[in-house]
This record gives sequence, structure tokens and C-alpha cells, in this order.
Amino acid sequence: MSTNVLPLTAYNFYLNGEWRKSKSGKTINITSPYLNEVIGKVQGITTEEVDEAIYYAHEAQKIWAETSLQERAKFLYKWADQLVNMQDEIAEIIMKEVGKSIKDAKNEVVRTADLIRYTVDEALHMHGESMRGDSFPGGSKSKVAIIERVPLGVVLAIPPFNYPVNLAAAKLAPALISGNAVIFKPATQGAISGIKMIEALHKADFPAGIVNIVTGRGSDIGDYLVEHAGINMISFTGGTNTGIRLAKKAAMIPLVLELGGKDPGIVREDADLHEASKHIISGAFSYSGQRCTAIKRVLVHERVADELVAILKKKIEKLPVGSPEEGNTVVPLIDNRSADFVQGLIDDAIEKGATLVIGNKRDHNLIYPTLLDHVTEDMVVAWEEPFGPVLPVIRVSSDEEAIAIANQSEFGLQASVFTKDINKAFTIANKIETGSVQINGRTERGPDHFPFIGVKGSGMGAQGIRKSLESMTREKVTVLNLAE
Ligand code: NAP
Ligand code: G3P
Repeated sequence: MSTNVLPLTAYNFYLNGEWRKSKSGKTINITSPYLNEVIGKVQGITTEEVDEAIYYAHEAQKIWAETSLQERAKFLYKWADQLVNMQDEIAEIIMKEVGKSIKDAKNEVVRTADLIRYTVDEALHMHGESMRGDSFPGGSKSKVAIIERVPLGVVLAIPPFNYPVNLAAAKLAPALISGNAVIFKPATQGAISGIKMIEALHKADFPAGIVNIVTGRGSDIGDYLVEHAGINMISFTGGTNTGIRLAKKAAMIPLVLELGGKDPGIVREDADLHEASKHIISGAFSYSGQRCTAIKRVLVHERVADELVAILKKKIEKLPVGSPEEGNTVVPLIDNRSADFVQGLIDDAIEKGATLVIGNKRDHNLIYPTLLDHVTEDMVVAWEEPFGPVLPVIRVSSDEEAIAIANQSEFGLQASVFTKDINKAFTIANKIETGSVQINGRTERGPDHFPFIGVKGSGMGAQGIRKSLESMTREKVTVLNLAE
């Protein structure tokens, strides 16, 4: 992989089918988390430019909504094809911009093309329903209700940094095929990747105004976008605090929020520890744990804890650590502030008596994979989302204790249960307050057509292709009163 840094480009934002420099004259430097060099700049746009983008989105959406599903499908299929054509270029930018290994970055682009195609196929096979009046007491046979789904208008799509293409397209694709227009506000660290994704969309000749990418810090334009009267739906993925702020400011419009997580890996006494540890290591340390669905704590039965910790330690010793250009699993975190936060969690745990099994080593924003044993509930790392490569092990004496600790969390995204007893697995799964439970597998969002749900502090509403199509449309009822 070339180590030449991308030429320092000031990337324009995309409004009504045109690439533009902002009238603000402001740009935001994007610094690579591992090259520690500015790899490009994006525009810090003005609120007037936000207004303009939303205006053109509404104008374009009126026509787009009248376009046939088959016609809209053609544009999205072409977009997917263009992404595949650009996958090497986009993957390199994802790697340089968010520090994701080149292999994971390429997988993200291909996964996104697959997601777009599947979304189109799903939409093409979503049909409404009809109802007869006489199925209700006193209802008339001559009343027929025709129920179909219609677009909401202009969708505001706000993804996080860690999947700058896949989590953006997971919002754009269902919005677009359903007849909506989109205002896309990428994470700032990830905005160049988002712009490249829109370049692929531009090459698919989408009508002007249907998709607009508005760049600028969330702290600058986020509230203005969220509160804007021209926004008809918001699909947000990001931190819980940001999501709560957004939900309080949004008007009476549909929201889908996919937020933070503290997914537990529950290891029962009868679990196959080698199998479980494979999933735990991958779940906790892939992309340095910068996944909402990362396994962020282990709740293990005390009778097998020593053995599990020993196995985990051996696997962690072998984890490749370093630059994403060499395909490492544990890579520098997105920025120093994040690394400081993770280091703080480690320091707090050790100060309070946790056993450092391995790790607690740092090189700038690279934190080495860290395993903490004998973690207790007074330690912050037992509850906070690190979004980094630190895994606390909490020892429990029963399934009930594991369930209680899991449910005490403010989060409720996913959980993993490792056991040979399928009945016990379902008993635990039924009691865990999360959107999803993985039995004998790591916590993860994929495959992308599965419903993906966060409850409590992990979100509101559901993603996953079919659920996203439903959340970006509404039902419309037309009642036919036939002549008696
Ligand atoms: P973040 O700091 O909350 O930012 C998420 C997005 O919100 C970014 O595009 C950000 O833009 C934008 N934003 C910031 N302030 C805003 C405001 N006032 N109004 C509107 N938008 C605003 O999260 P992150 O650091 O990118 O991602 C990490 C977090 O996201 C973790 O907590 C992780 O668990 C969560 N996450 C959840 C899922 C899921 O599916 N549940 C998936 C991935 C990540 P700027 O970048 O310009 O600030
Ligand atoms: O944090 C991003 C979230 O969507 C995780 O995706 O597929 O890595 O579990 P995945």
C-alpha cells in the first residue's frame, strides 16, 4: 500500500447536483488518526447553504416521488456499481480518514454495494394491502381500504465516523428507493469518505437535488439541521449523548436513533471456552473496539473464569497491533481525546483493584489491547462505553447475576450468550433487555438485512433493510366506497 498521503484537497460539498465551495470561506482540516497528517479539507458550510440544500431537496423530491419504483431502482443499482468501480480509491480514503484496516475498509465498500442492491430488491417486493369493510361488525362490503406506503419527504441522514460509507448508505438507500430526498450530514472525521460515496452516486446520474451532502461540524450546524422545518425525518447513528440532544431538539417528526452500547459477552460454566474466546476477541478488538456492537465486557461464571482469562490472554498476545496499512486488528483510535478516555477507564479500574492481565500500553492514540480481570461494579469501565480496545472481565456466580448486571446497564444494544445448553441460552436471551441477543456468536449488526435495534440508551426505532424502508415511509389509506 502506498504510503503517499493523498494530495491536500479541499473537497467541495454537494448541493442540487453541483460540487460547491462554501461561501463561508471556512474549511475543516481532516487529520489521519495514524498518519497524523492533514489528508484533506472539507467545507464548513453556512446555515444559508443548509436552507438552500433543503429547498432544492424538496423541489426535487416532488418529482422523484412520482418516478416509478423501477426507474428509481435503476439509479440505485448504478450507484452500487459505481461504488464497486471505486472500491480501491474509497477504501484507501476510509483507511486514511478513520484508521480502518485496508481489508475492513474494502469489505465496508463491497458490503455497502450489496446493501444498496438488497435494499432495492426488498423495496421492489414490498406490497401494500387491502381491507374489506364487512370484516368489522356493521361494516359495509362496499367499503374497501387500499393501504400503501408513501415517502416522508426530506430525510436527514447523520451517520457516525466508524462506518463512514456503510452506515451512511444504510440510511440513504432506503430513503431514496422509497421516494424521499436526502440531506446527508457525514461525521466530520469520515466526511471525505462520505464525499467519495456521493461522487459514486453523482456518477449514477441521480436527478439534481435528490441527495445533498452538507459538511460541517455537528457542533456548528447539527442543531440547525435537526430543528429545520424542512426536515421530515431524521435517521441518526452516533453517541447516546448526541442522540438524546438531537431527540430533544427535533420537532414532531419520525426519528430513528442507533446509539451507544455496552454489549456483554455472557459465558456460562458449560461454554466451550475456546470457541467463546474466538468470538469474544473478534467482538472486542476488531477495529480497536470502535464498533457500537463491540463486546465491551465479559460476564463469566467464576468456576471457569481463570481458564477463560488465560485463553483470552494468549489470543490477545497474538493480536496484530499497528498501522491499518498493514491490515492490523488493533489500530490507532480515531483521535487522542478518545485514547485519553480509554486510558482513563483503564487507570480507574487498576486504581480500584482490577487485575491487569495484559496491555495498558499506549503510543499516542494507539492503545494496546488491554484485558482487565476481577473488574467490580464500582469501576467505571464496567459501565461506560470505551469505544476502544479494553475488555473488562466481571466474574459472576449464576445466570441470574449475569442477567442482573447486564440489565443494570443504561445501554441495550446487543448481548452474546455462550453455552452448550440451548434452553438456558433462550432463557437468558428472553430476560436480557437488549435489541438483539447472539447465541454462541459475537455481537454484530450484520448481516444488514437483519433488524438492528437499540433499546434504552442504545436507541429508538429499528434499522436493518426492511425496517429502514418502513421507517422512511408512512402508510396512506385510500377508501373506495363502491356503489351498493
Ligand atoms: P458522535 O460524536 O455522536 O457523532 C455522530 C454524528 O452526529 C456525527 O455525524 C456528528 O457530526 C453528528 N453530530 C454531532 N453533534 C451533533 C448535533 N448537535 N446535532 C446533529 N448531529 C450531530 O458519535 P461518533 O463519535 O461519530 O461515533 C461513535 C458513537 O456512535 C459511539 O457511541 C458508538 O457506539 C455510536 N455508534 C452507534 C452505532 C449503532 O448502530 N448503534 C453505530 C456506530 C456508532 P461531527 O462528526 O461533525 O461531530
Ligand atoms: O458500530 C457500527 C455498527 O453498526 C457495527 O456494525 O457489522 O461491525 O457489527 P458491525
